[in-house]
Amino acid sequence: MNNKGDINIICNLQDFQLDQLSEAWQNLIYKADAARSGSHSPYSNFQVGAALLLDSGEVVIGSNQENAAYPSGLCAERTAMFWAGANYPNQKVLAIAVTVPKRAEHIPFPCGSCLQVISEYQQRQESPINILLKHPQSQQVYLAKGVQNLLPFAFEKSHLPKD
Ligand code: THU
Repeated sequence: MNNKGDINIICNLQDFQLDQLSEAWQNLIYKADAARSGSHSPYSNFQVGAALLLDSGEVVIGSNQENAAYPSGLCAERTAMFWAGANYPNQKVLAIAVTVPKRAEHIPFPCGSCLQVISEYQQRQESPINILLKHPQSQQVYLAKGVQNLLPFAFEKSHLPKD
């Protein structure tokens, strides 16, 4: 079989220690952690927190909201993104921080649906959304400078037919 060539995409994640980040971004991570107290997660018992930094300097928080009808629940990242979209439609989102409970063992990569939502807002505002992901048990933080570094093949407005 002949193919025309592979498509290779480079995704970049920067690896930091918390104290190497700006005060604003460290603060955003603390706000995400505090937001976990608002989580409604009786089914998974996994409290996820998210905090968005808007270009006004305001911080918007979110946490996962579960439901007895499981698919009706929503992740922390989308709770925060939709709240910002509804209440501050003209503000750019500069960054989103995500944290998970200490007993988790891995950096919390946002799920595909949340990345797709972050991608939508990034396209709308025409500037990158920085994504900060803190390790639950250490000071390690991954920084993706734009959602394309975590979701390189996002579905976009331009992929819809014009008619
Ligand atoms: N969850 C989030 O809030 N964000 C993610 O990126 C992944 C998962 C939530 C959804 C559910 O309430 C719980 O974590 C377990 O999946």
